[in-house]
Amino acid sequence: MNDYINIALPKGRLGEKVYALLESIGYGCPELMGGSRKLIFENPENKVRYFWAKPSDVAVYVERGAADIGVAGKDILLEAGSDVYELCDLGFGKCRMAVAGIKGVRIPTDKTIRVATKFPKIARDYFAKQSRDIEIIKLNGSIEIAPLLDLSDVIVDIVETGTTLKENGLEPYETICPISARLIANKAAYKFKSDSINELLKATVDYISENRK
Ligand code: PRP
Repeated sequence: MNDYINIALPKGRLGEKVYALLESIGYGCPELMGGSRKLIFENPENKVRYFWAKPSDVAVYVERGAADIGVAGKDILLEAGSDVYELCDLGFGKCRMAVAGIKGVRIPTDKTIRVATKFPKIARDYFAKQSRDIEIIKLNGSIEIAPLLDLSDVIVDIVETGTTLKENGLEPYETICPISARLIANKAAYKFKSDSINELLKATVDYISENRK
């Protein structure tokens, strides 16, 4: 088990894209894309073991050492406050975290701001830095509805193309931070498996810079 690199990938399009990258740099695992419902795959030839995890859980597997490395969005890492190493920015899944609200309306300055979000920690940290009083309304999806129904004054959410905001009569007010997929590592594993993890990291970074040209 210990001479394998254990990699947690987020189930879905991002994970498949990252797997394609890893396969092309020598970390393939032929049975992985076979369409089965299995969740753990390994290739004894190159000593790699993959797990498909729910995207928001990848950092948990990595932080606790169940996986040596993994791929997670910066939004998830910030929200969970994950204690992992961020090895590199993969440049996939680029978007931003933003404060948004009804078009033409501004963030209230004379009262506690009601903020609807899936990301309470990110929202709290952002407004606290500016000493603005907020009340968090935690939702799990379709956040854009909240200001429309006067459940909140603003939302804190991911904006990618901006289409969801636009089609619901909302607009971004402020950008909190850019978001993209990161390659992360367990802190202890990075020490004990530094050679193999650094080899994978170098090949990944080379691949990314080669394909950016
Ligand atoms: C995300 C996000 C926005 C939307 C932004 O939602 O929460 O709603 O994508 O993308 P856009 O700027 O390209 O329109 P997701 O699809 O994950 O669903 P959710 O509303 O259930 O969170």
